[in-house]
Amino acid sequence: MAVGTSRKISAASARAHTRKPKQKASVAGFSGVYKKIALVSFIGFLAWAYQATRPPPSKTCGSPDGPPITASRIQLNDGRHLAYKEYGVPKDKAKYKIIFVHGFDCCRHDVSAITSNLSSDLVESQGIHIVSFDRPGYGESDPNPKQTVKSTAFDIEELADKLGLGSKFYIVGFSMGGQLVWTCLKYIPHRLAGAALLTPVVNYWWPGLPSNLTKEAYDQQPPQDQWAVRVSHYMPWLTYWWNTQKLFLGSSLIYHNPAVISNQDRELLPRIQSIRKEYQAQVRQQGDFVSLHRDLMIGFGTWEFDPTGLENPFLESEGSVHLWQGDDDKLVPVTPQRYIAQKLPWIQYHELAGAGHMFPFADGMADLIIKTLLAG
Ligand SMILES: *[C@@H]1O[C@H](CO)[C@@H](O)[C@H](O)[C@H]1NC(C)=O
Ligand SMILES: *[C@@H]1O[C@H](CO)[C@@H](O)[C@H](O)[C@H]1NC(C)=O
Repeated sequence: MAVGTSRKISAASARAHTRKPKQKASVAGFSGVYKKIALVSFIGFLAWAYQATRPPPSKTCGSPDGPPITASRIQLNDGRHLAYKEYGVPKDKAKYKIIFVHGFDCCRHDVSAITSNLSSDLVESQGIHIVSFDRPGYGESDPNPKQTVKSTAFDIEELADKLGLGSKFYIVGFSMGGQLVWTCLKYIPHRLAGAALLTPVVNYWWPGLPSNLTKEAYDQQPPQDQWAVRVSHYMPWLTYWWNTQKLFLGSSLIYHNPAVISNQDRELLPRIQSIRKEYQAQVRQQGDFVSLHRDLMIGFGTWEFDPTGLENPFLESEGSVHLWQGDDDKLVPVTPQRYIAQKLPWIQYHELAGAGHMFPFADGMADLIIKTLLAG
């Protein structure tokens, strides 16, 4: 080998080599090689990490390799489409119009949380019309790359206007959809006739929540969920990788961890599963990033406002705001919710003993929630 190599070295450089002390030259040579290997590996790692953290393109509905469009959709002013579904009496005959906002890993059909056990007598006699829509990136609604906490409130307002729901409508949001009800109370309060938040997800980084309270609630979550929300908050750019990698467990919500299922949830599960199996495949069909991951990044990100500091939107009692929460909810802890309800005395707080996260599906709950909301 040495002979073969030396043959290619010119006489001049050979002389230069022989002048250097041999020992030092070979050490420097070796460490240089290691440095190069380390540098190349590091660049390789960065390239891999960059690829791994970048979500694949979404499969937008109606695009050549995307899922088909089957739902009714409206087109928003920025060109995006929102898919929706209607329930109840026709809107031109309705006295009460309600917009339902679905939760994490759900779609417009998950309005079943409040319609599957809603009595038709109530719907007919009161004249109730319910609109449920796919939040951006879910089901058949186009993803919104510019989505923020605020933007979906304005999507909702535009949806109401394009469907001709009138100057005021009610809003009901479940879980992550409950977070959006806070946003509507902040940005479009003049359009609301009333609001119901069903176990709205709490963001541990809302500044108005006392840190000892959020720490206690946070520590009760399974470690995998602490990490999932931590990553979404502090390193949103890593959210895609975190929830798709196989080294650590991602969010319980994504992986259906039994540790977050309360006794009541367990009892309701067969009912919920039989309803959801019809449409579950549609939920994430445009990609996990534009639906689930973006939801986590926004829901647990830094908010433009703090719901715990909201003003009463109904100073003349022209509407009411209700918050429902189970005390055995293992996904959304009850203690921060109690604190928020106390801090905002204009909220009518309904705490349900023994209830878990899925209580709207329980017998009679939908009737109770809707009657209470419409009674003001
Ligand atoms: C609600 O569910 C219970 C139990 O399955 C059933 O007995 C009741 O008829 C349902 N009510 C409506 C309005 O669907
Ligand atoms: C947090 O601290 C406040 C004031 O120091 C105290 O009143 C409250 O009980 C504490 N809450 C928890 C959950 O430890």
